Amino acid sequence: MIHPDSRRIIIFDTTLRDGEQSPGASMNLAEKMEVAQALADLGVDVIEAGFPIASPGDFLAVQKVAQSIRGPIICGLARCRDADIDRAWEALKDAERPRIHVFLATSAIHREHKLRMSKDDIIRRAVEGVRRAAGYCPDIEFSPEDAARTEIDFLCQVVEAAIDAGATTVNIPDTVGYATPAHFGRVIATLRQRVPNIDKAVISVHCHNDLGMAVANSLAAVESGAGQVECTINGIGERAGNCALEEVVMALRVRHDVFRADTNINSKRLVPTSRLVSSITGLHVQRNKAIVGQNAFAHESGIHQDGMLKEPTTYEIMRPEDVGLAMTDLVLGKHSGRAALADRAKALGYELSGEQLDAVFERFKVLADKKKEIYDGDIQVLIEQQSPVVSETWRFESYGISCGTGQTPQVTLALRKGDQPLTTTLSAGDGPIDALFLAMQKLTGIRTVCKDFNVHSVTVGEDAQGEVTVQLEYDGRLYRGRGVSTDSVEASARAFLTAINRIATLFHRDRQNSAGK
Ligand code: KIV
Ligand code: ZN
Repeated sequence: MIHPDSRRIIIFDTTLRDGEQSPGASMNLAEKMEVAQALADLGVDVIEAGFPIASPGDFLAVQKVAQSIRGPIICGLARCRDADIDRAWEALKDAERPRIHVFLATSAIHREHKLRMSKDDIIRRAVEGVRRAAGYCPDIEFSPEDAARTEIDFLCQVVEAAIDAGATTVNIPDTVGYATPAHFGRVIATLRQRVPNIDKAVISVHCHNDLGMAVANSLAAVESGAGQVECTINGIGERAGNCALEEVVMALRVRHDVFRADTNINSKRLVPTSRLVSSITGLHVQRNKAIVGQNAFAHESGIHQDGMLKEPTTYEIMRPEDVGLAMTDLVLGKHSGRAALADRAKALGYELSGEQLDAVFERFKVLADKKKEIYDGDIQVLIEQQSPVVSETWRFESYGISCGTGQTPQVTLALRKGDQPLTTTLSAGDGPIDALFLAMQKLTGIRTVCKDFNVHSVTVGEDAQGEVTVQLEYDGRLYRGRGVSTDSVEASARAFLTAINRIATLFHRDRQNSAGK
């Protein structure tokens, strides 16, 4: 609930656009739709769904989000070019509430080296872009890219011209994460003082995290009067990422005494949404990450634990349940029924249909036969895996390996392609995982380079499930895969195969798309 004396800050989520620009984080259409729905359920005000001119895949994603997601404003990005703006509108036109976001760089470095345009040219192009977009719909956002490094007098001039031309939101990006809180707060205050028509638009901020100050800079801007914050789930994005949505939202809420501002975000959905984005993008959330990290509410020190038992507020400034973290971690087992599973799923923030619950329950029983205690982490993995969004060209069947120190591994791998069983035996590789990876490439005919390989345990205990994430390089692009099993070698095989299936699906789709351009 929004505090009665609060200023309402608009939350503009760009996970699907700037967030997707994180290396290796590209999502397919089904994945983007799942994230878009989760963002709508979280209560974001604006979803930036993509950059329609960038690729046919981006166009399709923005169009599908615009056609299907109801509630938030749906936004598409465009440079100040006619073709970009027309394409953005084409993708957005079925949205309940469309927004076109046009941008043009304004800093001296960008003007001189990238655009080779004078200040007058920049103002002219910005005005033309905003006017063209405003011819399509009334909700127009304009961003002077690299605003934080733009001369303040020129920034004021550009912002004034963009508002005159029809911009209803002016977004001030710190594109390279160069600003500091005091500096960025001053930029916003100056715009409010010196731009005569500033009251006709919402001031937005878009901060990158290169110096680790994206959230601090965004909050300083809010203190100076910014009304919209652009952010991403888990702070993913170009290079060091963007302002983290969960951090800015909880900072505003917990420190209401300072900011006197709040958002429409349902904070209980923060952890489930963070997990969904992490599982779909393959970008792990560091354990000590504020708000959504695994350790964000863990108290290790005896003194802290003692204080917590006496009075939780001694060491806790927000409750885990406020951000959707179920701390009870009730253990389920093979005698637990469907109702108990449904109950835990609900407490973890998942609304499952009867059919989805049946599928998850079936896999829960299989897991419970292998593993005595099933924790919340296990249940989350079961739920997240129940609807693979990458089509499975090949399915994993089984593997066998014999290996040891100083021996060349012997591996047998069985996959299935449709109805056809495929088996290979190989004596190669440097250890069992490498041998499996080579066998996988031999059987599928897809040759890749493994760029990253990580093993984590999903929960605690010797029988905990192992979660393996991999990044494979194919034709200059990164594809990720994730596999979970109580056997970490099998989890590795499953992770490799998911990435290879992803290559088979996405590479094929992208080729078809570029052929149809
Ligand atoms: O960082 C940036 O400047 C951007 C703009 C397109 C808003 O992402
Ligand atoms: Zn950005």
